[in-house]
Amino acid sequence: MMISSAIVPLLITSLMIIPAPADYGDDCTASGCHDDFQKKAVVHDPASSDGCDVCHTPLPGTDHEFKFAEEGAELCVQCHDAFEGKVRHDPVEEGECTVCHDPHASANRFLLTQPSVGDLCLDCHDGLRDDLSYVHGPVAGGACTACHDAHASTHRALLLKTGTEQCYSCHTEMKEAMASRKHVHAAVEDDCSGCHQPHGGKNPTFVKSSPPALCLDCHSDLEEALAEAAVPHKPVSTGAACGNCHNAHATKYEHLLLADPAELCFPCHEKAVKDEGSNLPDMRSFLANHPQHHGPVGDNACGDCHAVHGNSNFRFLVEPYPSRFYAPFKEEDYALCFSCHDSEMVTEESTDSATGFRNGNQNLHFIHVNRKVKGRTCRACHEPHASSQPSHMRESVPFGSWRIPVGFRQTTNGGFCASGCHKPYRYDRLTVVENIPRTSPVETANP
Ligand code: HEC
Ligand code: HEC
Ligand code: HEC
Ligand code: HEC
Ligand code: HEC
Ligand code: HEC
Ligand code: HEC
Ligand code: HEC
Ligand code: HEC
Ligand code: HEC
Ligand code: HEC
Ligand code: HEC
Ligand code: HEC
Repeated sequence: MMISSAIVPLLITSLMIIPAPADYGDDCTASGCHDDFQKKAVVHDPASSDGCDVCHTPLPGTDHEFKFAEEGAELCVQCHDAFEGKVRHDPVEEGECTVCHDPHASANRFLLTQPSVGDLCLDCHDGLRDDLSYVHGPVAGGACTACHDAHASTHRALLLKTGTEQCYSCHTEMKEAMASRKHVHAAVEDDCSGCHQPHGGKNPTFVKSSPPALCLDCHSDLEEALAEAAVPHKPVSTGAACGNCHNAHATKYEHLLLADPAELCFPCHEKAVKDEGSNLPDMRSFLANHPQHHGPVGDNACGDCHAVHGNSNFRFLVEPYPSRFYAPFKEEDYALCFSCHDSEMVTEESTDSATGFRNGNQNLHFIHVNRKVKGRTCRACHEPHASSQPSHMRESVPFGSWRIPVGFRQTTNGGFCASGCHKPYRYDRLTVVENIPRTSPVETANP
């Protein structure tokens, strides 16, 4: 910090020699010699009541020579507080009361040597407002003593209060808002200065940096995760970044989310997202037009399947899931689905219980999915989000530029598929439908 030399400390010396005027009486002010003090707006009580000798003691044997009654701050401490405290302001520590106060009188409140508190402080701390593109209201207004004690304090940096109380003393509307919000950011409860600079700064609202950097400063786990994420989610690092989904202070939703989880994703995903290789459907209309919502989608828990900050799985799914229509079967590649559904539905070749997709005991999930090459992935038949069919069956499957109709219909104990993949087939769990050669038409397969 720069201490300017504009105020040259007037050290109170032990001896003052004031040449005696030719003609003076006993009374310093009534004589007319020192009545100028009393003409100022603020007159120090002992100087106004002619208590000059409280501070100036005539030197014995001299005509008009004086010494101070006490040295340095002791002169003042005769009547005032010594401003003891864990943290003492440097000029107070040095006993330089008169750098800031005129001992006799002043045009300014508190007998200040400068027109205002701000002018006084900035005279020594003159670099303080330099380089601040955005200056905090009270700092711009020179109200330094709204936060600092000019003399001493029990808190660091001479602060009047600590933590949030310092800020809430003026930001009462925010204090009330925080008290009424259900979820308050631990960082806000802790100390506003985790994010804001008290005097001002280069950013609007003088946050130390903008999100995401501001947030990742503390959320270092997430910082590492994002750095490693091969499939990032664009809004996490662009535009308002973290602020696209979170409020930095508090909200009524869990995880400081800006909106109810049922709405959070839709400001962006209610229109098709087409950019840099992304071509994503309008999810809001898709869900509205497909009334059977898959369990977690129905619970508005997109986060059960998507790691919304991004990760290294296809579509930043929380667990692996194949990205293509065909894939050689490996159980771990379907960890997403098998985190909620039992993998036996695909791994058991023959079963009377692991799946309803069976012809007698013949597991048709096994037949379709569990193959060394060209296993059909779940998307060949199911919609992960929502469908208009039972069992979250799709109406059609994108296959290159063609949409293959699935043509699924449920029957009492099985189902019927008239898909574009093969001839219509039927399965029945109780009465095995005779194996029909794959290539021949299925006349009997009328449900
Ligand atoms: C509270 C202590 C105090 C009182 C009371 C006081 N003085 Fe002073 N006076 C000082 C100090 C300290 C200085 C040294 C200059 C400085 O630091 O501002 C001073 C300096 C002076 C000076 C030197 C020149 C100047 O104006 O700075 C004169 C003259 C003077 N005082 C006269 C008086 C008279 C007359 C009275 C009574 C009406 C009086 N003082 C009351 C503390 C006091
Ligand atoms: C003889 C007692 C006495 C001494 C010594 C004394 N003061 Fe005071 N001071 C007072 C009284 C009385 C008041 C007015 C009542 C009050 O505000 O506390 C006062 C008020 C003040 C004020 C407040 C003025 C305002 O506008 O509110 C300041 C600042 C101050 N003194 C500074 C000093 C400094 C600096 C010294 C030493 C150079 C000093 N005083 C020495 C008695 C004294
Ligand atoms: C760095 C400047 C500075 C120094 C040094 C300083 N003061 Fe002050 N003082 C102030 C300011 C500014 C105020 C007005 C406080 C406010 O704005 O609330 C003040 C207020 C006062 C007051 C009146 C209000 C109160 O807090 O009681 C007194 C008395 C006082 N000072 C005495 C002293 C004495 C005695 C010393 C030396 C021990 C001293 N000051 C040193 C800046 C200073
Ligand atoms: C006469 C010069 C001078 C004036 C006037 C002055 N200061 Fe200081 N201030 C200093 C010095 C010297 C330091 C100690 C060196 C440093 O911290 O850079 C200091 C330190 C500080 C500190 C840091 C204290 C710490 O322990 O962290 C604060 C806060 C402060 N001043 C606020 C103020 C405020 C508010 C005012 C106006 C009421 C003010 N200063 C007026 C000289 C001054
Ligand atoms: C809104 C409250 C607030 C206001 C108003 C304020 N300060 Fe501060 N100031 C602080 C806080 C909080 C710190 C402590 C920063 C830290 O250490 O984290 C501080 C620190 C300081 C320091 C120590 C060095 C530094 O920069 O960290 C100085 C000097 C200082 N302030 C001077 C001033 C001056 C001069 C003014 C008026 C122009 C002023 N302050 C106004 C809150 C404030
Ligand atoms: C002395 C009163 C006062 C104190 C204490 C105070 N503020 Fe302020 N603050 C204001 C005023 C006045 C404004 C400007 C008016 C406005 O924008 O609300 C402001 C504005 C702000 C803004 C910017 C608002 C915007 O929309 O640009 C932030 C951020 C802020 N304060 C944070 C803090 C923090 C953090 C603290 C505690 C270190 C604090 N304030 C302490 C009075 C205060
Ligand atoms: C985790 C970081 C963080 C913490 C801690 C924090 N803020 Fe903020 N604050 C921000 C961000 C980021 C913004 C900008 C929000 C925006 O632009 O939408 C902001 C904006 C503000 C604003 C202006 C806009 C508004 O919402 O009114 C004020 C005032 C404010 N903060 C005060 C405070 C106070 C007071 C505290 C402590 C009680 C605090 N902040 C704690 C990050 C934080
Ligand atoms: C000064 C440190 C700090 C900064 C900066 C910070 N946070 Fe936090 N944040 C915390 C702490 C401490 C917690 C509570 C412990 C935890 O959950 O990690 C927390 C928790 C959270 C939570 C979880 C709340 C919950 O209930 O699950 C979210 C979300 C969050 N922060 C978002 C943000 C965002 C967004 C930003 C940037 C605007 C940010 N944080 C900046 C310290 C910080
Ligand atoms: C697209 C919306 C979105 C964006 C952008 C976003 N988050 Fe989140 N965040 C969420 C959701 C939703 C949750 C709730 C938990 C979940 O579903 O994973 C969450 C949870 C959190 C949590 C608490 C739980 C956890 O995972 O640790 C923290 C901390 C967090 N976010 C910080 C951040 C930070 C920091 C940023 C910016 C780098 C950010 N978020 C950006 C949506 C978002
Ligand atoms: C602020 C806008 C915004 C919000 C809010 C948002 N997204 Fe996104 N999302 C995008 C953009 C832009 C893309 C395309 C770029 C990309 O892939 O990151 C995208 C892509 C995606 C993708 C495809 C990723 C890929 O592989 O290309 C998924 C999945 C996704 N978002 C899920 C969600 C979920 C779940 C939520 C709610 C928790 C959500 N999004 C909230 C803007 C948003
Ligand atoms: C049950 C797990 C699951 C849930 C819950 C889920 N998704 Fe998905 N999501 C997926 C899977 C699997 C894919 C990949 C689909 C594919 O490529 O066949 C995907 C893909 C996406 C895509 C990329 C476009 C597409 O349709 O392939 C977006 C955008 C998306 N999800 C958004 C969301 C949103 C928003 C939510 C909450 C409403 C959500 N997801 C909930 C599993 C889920
Ligand atoms: C060839 C189409 C097809 C493929 C590929 C497919 N399924 Fe199915 N699945 C069905 C049909 C048809 C049903 C309805 C069975 C019934 O109840 O009649 C079904 C039912 C289900 C059920 C309900 C419980 C049960 O087993 O009856 C779950 C869960 C399920 N499938 C998950 C998956 C998963 C996970 C994948 C990928 C590993 C997948 N399916 C692949 C056609 C398919
Ligand atoms: C977070 C848990 C979760 C994940 C992950 C999950 N599901 Fe589901 N799934 C459910 C729940 C709960 C139900 C039952 C409610 C319903 O029918 O939607 C269900 C039902 C189903 C059904 C319909 C069952 C029936 O009998 O009608 C199918 C098909 C299905 N899931 C397929 C999948 C596929 C394919 C995946 C992987 C892409 C998957 N699920 C991942 C929770 C999950």
